[in-house]
Amino acid sequence: MSELKVLISKNELYKKIQDTADKINAFYGSEDVLNLVCVLKGAAMFACELMKYLDMPVKIEFVSLASYDATKSTGVLQTKHLDLPDFNNENVLIVEDIIDSGLTMDFLIRYIETHCSAKSIKLAVLLEKECEHKYDIKPDFCASKIDDKFIVGFGLDYNGIYRNLDYIASLESL
Ligand code: IMP
Ligand code: MG
Repeated sequence: MSELKVLISKNELYKKIQDTADKINAFYGSEDVLNLVCVLKGAAMFACELMKYLDMPVKIEFVSLASYDATKSTGVLQTKHLDLPDFNNENVLIVEDIIDSGLTMDFLIRYIETHCSAKSIKLAVLLEKECEHKYDIKPDFCASKIDDKFIVGFGLDYNGIYRNLDYIASLESL
């Protein structure tokens, strides 16, 4: 049995996402198209909330990647859906839920660099785990840092559940 312990409340989380959107708006011009690449399933809620506050013309694509099994990284990336267009020299902002080892983002950044003709590729994450990332990945925009423990909520799951929580929680064993 496990219980949920709130780590970032709903109000805190929404404020952090708005602050992140402000930084993204300040970084890009308000005229240039910004292509979001949302990494399913975990980043769905973050991307939907974040894009509401963006000022520039925004487009969105979805990819589906998985590296976790229950509470641990498998170290192997599964590409479940990866069908991105040519971005025709427009800016790309990857929107991801959390960075742990950095494996998922290391793969996706390289993939977009190689296949998609992006003008620039930046990374926005909801959470960055405070651990040594095995891959050298640094987010350009990060809503919040978090202790190195397994967490759920706001898109993040444990065996497929808890994605619908509107806050971030750790799973504590009873
Ligand atoms: P990485 O590839 O090791 O950086 O792990 C990132 C991916 O693993 C994210 O896209 C998440 O889907 C998943 N993940 C990492 N940490 C957690 C967690 O604490 N809870 C739920 N999913 C996680
Ligand atoms: Mg993921």
